Amino acid sequence: MTPLRSELRDFNTMRMQAKCRSVIPVFSEQDVFDVLVQELHPLKIIGGGSNILITKDQDAYILKNEIKGIEIIDEDGDNALVKVGAGENWHLLVLWTISHGLGGIENLALIPGCVGAAPMQNIGAYGVEQESVFHSLQAIDLVEGTTKTFYKEDCKFGYRESIFKNEVKGKYIITHVNYLFSKHPKLNTSYGAINQKLQEKQVDNPTIEDVAHAVIEIRQSKLPDPKIIPNTGSFFKNPVVGIDVLESIKVRFPSVVSYPVDEKMVKIPAAWLIQHAGYKGMRHGDAATHENHALVLVNHGNATGNEMLSFAEIIQNGVEDKFGIRLVPEVNIW
Ligand code: EPU
Repeated sequence: MTPLRSELRDFNTMRMQAKCRSVIPVFSEQDVFDVLVQELHPLKIIGGGSNILITKDQDAYILKNEIKGIEIIDEDGDNALVKVGAGENWHLLVLWTISHGLGGIENLALIPGCVGAAPMQNIGAYGVEQESVFHSLQAIDLVEGTTKTFYKEDCKFGYRESIFKNEVKGKYIITHVNYLFSKHPKLNTSYGAINQKLQEKQVDNPTIEDVAHAVIEIRQSKLPDPKIIPNTGSFFKNPVVGIDVLESIKVRFPSVVSYPVDEKMVKIPAAWLIQHAGYKGMRHGDAATHENHALVLVNHGNATGNEMLSFAEIIQNGVEDKFGIRLVPEVNIW
């Protein structure tokens, strides 16, 4: 039995304390192959650690993805195909695209985490999801030690979902992601808050840089910085429910917020449900919902993973009792 020697607290943005056998940084595909020949089992992968809630010690070797590099590998007059190391910080990639005049992910500024996690979660914000610019990715099969390319249709992207969270969970380490960015970007400022921010700043003909700055300001004004208050962003997904469910909520709460999904379904912001069930800003020990945004669970100091999870369950039960909707975590529970 290998002792659990390494501490994971510095490797997850919720700052949960837990041990693992060891944390092994990998800087290249070759580093991954070198680990695989050592036959260390089981292996788990960590990137930025910004979308996991660790609830117990991990009897595993943790590969920390540090594969870096951003390069244009193909381009024409309209687009550039950019290969990115999965260990690159996502926000640094956004800044890189802006400085190169490439559009597509300016709405996704300041999302924490690394590039390898972006397709896994199919990250999104302000009306854009990463799948809209995703081209393909390279991954290494952790059992076979072979490399494999996944194209967009292979990834089964959905709302904060992909094949990597489901059918092939834990089977691969993503090493590189290829994105197709536009040299003639079409801006997506339809999301209310962005337009409002641009108007406030009196920007009439926004550039990708203006949009990114607007997003950065909006996020900074309401979402807690994990470096200051540990958190993992949105804790739950926004539930998609039938229109009948929305109508029944409207009887009691005429101002309920919703976004159409199709003719029969709507998305209701989990933050709205949590707030109107009375849990916004509520604190249980050091586990709490953030006072500016009910969907963000925060650790005010020394909450354990299980305390965070129990608090999440209290919220799930409270929301279900009041609205008949069971919230589902968006974060990965370890
Ligand atoms: N709202 C409340 N109470 C709150 C906060 C928000 O009632 O405390 C209501 C407001 O009416 C607001 C609505 O909820 O209009 C939606 O809130 P917001 O625009 O902040 O977005 P969200 O649905 O809570 C999603 C993503 C975020 C992404 C934002 C912006 C999910 C689970 N979350 O949040 O992504 O940044 O939209 O596009 O889809 C993440 O995934 O970790 C994440 C932060």
